[in-house]
Amino acid sequence: MILVTGGTGLVGAHLLYHLLQTHDTVRAIHRKSSHLDSVKEVFSFYTSEAEEYFHKIEWIEADITEVPALTKVFEGITQVYHCAAFISFNTKHFHALQKANIEGTANIVNLCLAHKVSKLCHVSSVATLGKSEDDSPINEEVPWNPEDMNSVYSITKYGAEMEVWRGTQEGLKAVIVNPGVILGEGFWDSGSGVIVKRAAKGVSFYPDGSTGFVDVRDVVQSMVRIMNESIINQQFILVAENASYLKLLTGLSKEFGIAPPKRKLNKSVLLLLSYLDGMSSFLFGTKRFLLKATIRSMYSHSSYDSSKIKDQLVFEFIPLEETLKRVVGHYPR
Ligand SMILES: NC(=O)c1ccc[n+]([C@@H]2O[C@H](COP(=O)([O-])OP(=O)(O)OC[C@H]3O[C@@H](n4cnc5c(N)ncnc54)[C@H](OP(=O)(O)O)[C@@H]3O)[C@@H](O)[C@H]2O)c1
Repeated sequence: MILVTGGTGLVGAHLLYHLLQTHDTVRAIHRKSSHLDSVKEVFSFYTSEAEEYFHKIEWIEADITEVPALTKVFEGITQVYHCAAFISFNTKHFHALQKANIEGTANIVNLCLAHKVSKLCHVSSVATLGKSEDDSPINEEVPWNPEDMNSVYSITKYGAEMEVWRGTQEGLKAVIVNPGVILGEGFWDSGSGVIVKRAAKGVSFYPDGSTGFVDVRDVVQSMVRIMNESIINQQFILVAENASYLKLLTGLSKEFGIAPPKRKLNKSVLLLLSYLDGMSSFLFGTKRFLLKATIRSMYSHSSYDSSKIKDQLVFEFIPLEETLKRVVGHYPR
């Protein structure tokens, strides 16, 4: 039996549907607060039988940070896809990020070892890789640098990877995937869904950065392929295309049939807004909406080399343009 963590999130929900194409049932964990309807919504993008597919999942309530409940979930499990993580760039969330991402992954690794699970697939991020010194695309060999200006998210995702590699030293067979920004349908209020939602309303300005993008369907397909091959103890960058935010927003605007952004967004204006946002949060307890780490990522230029997975698996990524067309096609209007 396969176990999926984070099944109520973007990657996990798409993964569950993908796995159910070849398995009668899959076990997944959820929390009391999880929105299970989001999973049905994701399934409805693939099939008119979303409800039937949803009921094939054996849902068990468990938190990755709570070992007793999690232990029960592992009975009879042979493969684990660990997609659960807390995603936040807010330094105030550092302790919660450490707990979910590092301690949670350590629990998954320990239970995989204790239950002699045959293979673990851990979803990491390009955020755990270092910066290239000569502006060449970053590959799996570029080491994370603790001296860099790392976000609290990347620090804890790196810590999670260390737990997985520690597990492999203790005999676990594992693989790690490092996706770039994941584009996909179904979660419009988090991750890249927020960018799609913003673009739907029309954007006049664009930030001057660039990064790697990948379709959620490629993420889950490559994960399943890596798990089914004899590949072990390796990691793979998952990036279909390195593109600027201008290209992304222009592509989204085109699909929404609205004018693309024309003016560059001034970084110092955003930094000032972030400062005011921070003051308001400190004085009045308002929720942060513009973090310095987010601004840094919007203005940095990073490109990633995904030739390892392309060569080793003969894997072809969905072109960015095609992804944007499909995602916008599924956006609720
Ligand atoms: N989205 C991206 O652009 C992106 C890019 C690179 C890497 N990644 C990585 O990809 C993975 C999946 O990301 P995503 O976009 O699918 O994230 P997401 O939509 O925010 O989903 C996160 C999932 O993790 C679960 N989770 C969080 N804390 C948990 C805990 N303590 N116990 C059990 N479950 C917990 C959430 O459950 P609830 O529903 O209960 O909240 C949800 O199912 C993560 O590891 C992330 O770091 C994402």
